[in-house]
Amino acid sequence: MIPFLSLKDVTTLHGEEINEAVSRVIKNGWYLQGKENEKFEENYSKFIGTKYTIGCANGLDALILIFRAYIEIGVMKPGDEIIVPANTFIATILAITETGLKPVLCEPKFNTLEIDDDKIEELITRKTKAIVIVHLYGRIAYTEKIGQLCKKNNLKLVEDNAQAHGCIYRTPNHRQWITGSIGDAAGHSFYPGKNLGALGDGGAVTTNDPELATIIRALANYGSQKKYIFKHTGRNSRLDEIQAAVLDVKLKYLLEDNAHRKEVAKYYIEHLNHPSVTLPDTLPYEQNAFHLFPILCTHRDALHVYLEKNEVGTIIHYPVPPHKQECYKEWNILSLPITEHIANHELSLPIGPTITVKEVSQIVNLINQFS
Ligand SMILES: Cc1ncc(COP(=O)(O)O)c(C=O)c1O
Repeated sequence: MIPFLSLKDVTTLHGEEINEAVSRVIKNGWYLQGKENEKFEENYSKFIGTKYTIGCANGLDALILIFRAYIEIGVMKPGDEIIVPANTFIATILAITETGLKPVLCEPKFNTLEIDDDKIEELITRKTKAIVIVHLYGRIAYTEKIGQLCKKNNLKLVEDNAQAHGCIYRTPNHRQWITGSIGDAAGHSFYPGKNLGALGDGGAVTTNDPELATIIRALANYGSQKKYIFKHTGRNSRLDEIQAAVLDVKLKYLLEDNAHRKEVAKYYIEHLNHPSVTLPDTLPYEQNAFHLFPILCTHRDALHVYLEKNEVGTIIHYPVPPHKQECYKEWNILSLPITEHIANHELSLPIGPTITVKEVSQIVNLINQFS
């Protein structure tokens, strides 16, 4: 069996150091808001290239905290509109509706599967306050055009970096940014299967904005900056010390692990040649974090079953787009053909830091022989 991703193998890869880190926290007897968080936040800020990292409970909370903080500051108010890609994991959109803001769905580009920067401007109204970009599948979603639209219309740029730890953006004049430092604020998920995954839930916000950082830290701690004094109506959303210690170990190996993902992706790109399979544009290849390796297939469901029968695990990201979900009934009548096409044709192949070249070549041979 070649699993879609073996979390056990991923943890074992740096197992000794992870074990030491967990034991250290247990022995120290300090489990929340301690030195492990401080250290991880400092190292993550250095890695991402932002002044601040605020650890929190998960990626959904990270995005909620960003919008809540903008509302507290007065940059946004309930009812304001946020432009967001229609092709994303539901959490991106849940964060917007949870905070009383209104998601305005934007179709992705057919070749990149990321938000279509040619379709954003027509969605901007007097009520638009932000554009959310999701670096989905580990591929850069930012473009210069999006940056210019934000500047021209005085919009915040929020990044959903849940799937793109270590993804790089190079500007036309060769400056380099890591995703999570491009926008005004970014939400990160450390869900176990992510490129930088915890041994449970975890998340973070990164930003260069000191006011935003202070409010988010308070909001994640019941709204408190000083013990038992509550300035905001916050929530309890903290990264615990064990997860912070584990993440700090795994952060050291993130680029190495991503390099392996790139090798796997390269093999798929160079060897997959089935006529019903289309590969999305994965360029710029060296900059892609390859969290997932999505392919589009005209006979997707049959391929999914065929690979399963041949003991290869694959996952569809995502079979039902947010606008067709029961929880957003009001959008069910919307027609977003590109998003729907992706939902009907996408299949993610195994990729990760531990899959072997032999396994990848077996998968490629199976797919190329699919009839
Ligand atoms: C694009 C995207 N946004 C947000 C999230 C939410 O992260 P979490 O599962 O940590 O809440 C996820 C992942 O699960 C995701 O893939």
